[in-house]
Amino acid sequence: MMGQRHWVVIVLAACVALAALPGCDVERRKSDAELGLTAQQSAGRKIYDNYCDRCHRPDSTKGKKGPGLKGVFQHQYLPQTGLPANDDRVTDIVRNGRPDMPGYSQVLNAQDLQDLLAYMHTL
Ligand code: HEC
Repeated sequence: MMGQRHWVVIVLAACVALAALPGCDVERRKSDAELGLTAQQSAGRKIYDNYCDRCHRPDSTKGKKGPGLKGVFQHQYLPQTGLPANDDRVTDIVRNGRPDMPGYSQVLNAQDLQDLLAYMHTL
């Protein structure tokens, strides 16, 4: 009997410890409304989810295949390439790609790019 109770305590403690781990993806994904996104930024978020999320985390600077893009426009330079973090350079990167990143000039039109950048400014 005693042994069983110990087991329950251990499992509960493990759950609490896991939930407290930073970066553990236990948190529910926030809705566009919760993030306070405009219509344009929500459109950009969809594009980001479709094309960028598999390689770039939007909510962290931790790397996946490419660097995490949280706060990408909050700094003067991009973390990996060291290029200026402005709309022109980021648009070029998205259009032309990088050695390990596909280019999207055939996939995203000018409006898509503007929407995408509007969202990336909220990260
Ligand atoms: C297959 C994985 C992959 C996909 C998909 C991808 N990227 Fe990348 N991206 C990378 C890699 C890897 C790098 C780093 C390349 C380098 O060293 O120049 C990068 C670099 C970047 C950079 C420059 C970061 C820096 O710190 O210099 C930006 C901005 C960026 N990507 C945005 C995007 C956006 C926006 C999308 C979606 C339209 C996207 N990427 C899709 C892999 C990807």
